[in-house]
Amino acid sequence: VAARFSPGPLAGKRVLLTAGPTREFLDPVRFISNPSTGKMGMALAQAARELGASVTVVLGPVGSVDRSGLEVVDVVTAEEMAREVLGRVAEADVFIATAAVSDWRPELRAAQKVKKGSVDGPETLRLVRTPDVLAEASRKVSGQTRRPVLVGFAAETERVLEHAREKLERKGLDVIVANDVTAPGAGFGTDTNRVTVLTRTGAPRELQGSKDAVARGILELLPVERRPSAG
Ligand code: CTP
Ligand code: CA
Repeated sequence: VAARFSPGPLAGKRVLLTAGPTREFLDPVRFISNPSTGKMGMALAQAARELGASVTVVLGPVGSVDRSGLEVVDVVTAEEMAREVLGRVAEADVFIATAAVSDWRPELRAAQKVKKGSVDGPETLRLVRTPDVLAEASRKVSGQTRRPVLVGFAAETERVLEHAREKLERKGLDVIVANDVTAPGAGFGTDTNRVTVLTRTGAPRELQGSKDAVARGILELLPVERRPSAG
């Protein structure tokens, strides 16, 4: 028998994540997006892999990231992200939504580049809501006898814990990671983060440090067994 590494606390578990931004195009060369770089999500993905999980990341458009040992499904829009997640979430043991999904998309996507001189140029832009990937995933698994642990992130600029707690309830989550994106050493594109992890019952737990260290801390706080459905 070949020598083996010890199996790790997430051995045999399937972890599904979303990471990065989405892009919502108004024509072939213009889109609505946000500054997410996918760093926190990819740090969680790599940390979960190191703990023995098999990890799938549904990843929006980001620069170069470490994909080693991960299954990565590249997507561009919120609708694509929703489709790829909803096709996989029922089989997952843990679903962690770190993506900064655009909440709106242009109602229409012009087939050709809109010229600045054109009379029907977008002087105003009509926007419609995109699917809420995490809320739809939560709804989809809510009736399952064994459903994944559901983890969200809340990117906030004010009343951080209050807003995060409201999202925990509204989206039917087990855990939410509250992120004050205006705090020093936190937020988009940084290598460090400072978060508060809220669960349904336990006391809030603060974590800070490199995104890798924060990722390990978050995973350690998760109830790793698949939860029986609440309802
Ligand atoms: N999320 C998602 N799909 C969306 C919007 C958000 O999956 N269309 C997920 C994010 O990945 C995150 C959580 O929901 O895990 C909270 O995202 P956030 O943007 O903080 O909350 P929203 O519900 O979009 O509310 P708002 O932006 O108004 O604060
Ligand atoms: Ca949002």
